[in-house]
Amino acid sequence: MSKVVALANQKGGVGKTTSTINLAYALAQKGKRALAVDCDPQGSLTIYFGFSPDELEDAERTLYFSLVGDKPMESLVLGENPALVPASISLANAEPELLVRIMSSSQKVLREKMKAIRDQYDYILLDCPPSLGLLTINALVAADLVIVPVKTDNLSFHGVARLFQTIEQIQGDLNPTLRVAGILPTQYNPRNLHDNEILTGVRQALAGQSVQIFDPVNRSTVFDKATSLGLPTIAISPGSASVLSYHQVADSLINLS
Ligand SMILES: Nc1ncnc2c1ncn2[C@@H]1O[C@H](COP(=O)(O)OP(=O)(O)OP(=O)(O)O)[C@@H](O)[C@H]1O
Ligand SMILES: [Mg+2]
Repeated sequence: MSKVVALANQKGGVGKTTSTINLAYALAQKGKRALAVDCDPQGSLTIYFGFSPDELEDAERTLYFSLVGDKPMESLVLGENPALVPASISLANAEPELLVRIMSSSQKVLREKMKAIRDQYDYILLDCPPSLGLLTINALVAADLVIVPVKTDNLSFHGVARLFQTIEQIQGDLNPTLRVAGILPTQYNPRNLHDNEILTGVRQALAGQSVQIFDPVNRSTVFDKATSLGLPTIAISPGSASVLSYHQVADSLINLS
């Protein structure tokens, strides 16, 4: 049975997409069949994988055409392992279009559409947009696990309580088996006092709860370099500390029963 993992945080720029692609490659390198699904109309994950959202949109080969149209999700898959279901700007139209469907089912569309494809993969990673709108809700309803990337700055952690409320609502209603796999601090600079204070604050804030905090992913220029080359960081800098952090997260996903 495959595991579906949503990478969610309504705050922008915290490392959701970077974490999605790096985890997908780390899982694939460990012999797992991995699929990354771009659930963000910005199409960043699609670009990080080296594809053009505009060209794929013209060919009607992005997630929108499965969520709102009748393309089977399988027909959208690009590449082998990790594979990708790409997104493009039209996905932004999906939220209002999903809204006008009967409310009781509009949160479950992604889950339903993924059914036919699920068993072909060991892990499916859902890269969420920076909002708590219907696309993120669809991802959280479709997921077994959620990873919350947070940048080690004050503002990023602020929204996590709100995200947790949403997760609890979804657990109480639409997806009782959803679990928080952990918080993943990203873009961390161990020499920066402020980053360390924030990390300590996050650990204290969550001390009473059974939420795992992964070891932080250090700030590194390899990520921007990888993005500009349309390659995963794991391919251009396999031994870097930041990449090894993603291997650790991949291992803990594999070890979660
Ligand atoms: N550990 C890191 N060190 C340095 N830069 C990083 C790191 N992780 C991510 N970045 C950079 O930070 C920027 C934002 O990352 P990313 O696109 O993954 O965030 P996001 O949460 O997906 O953003 P959005 O909310 O817009 O979808 C990118 O330019 C990425 O290369
Ligand atoms: Mg993103």
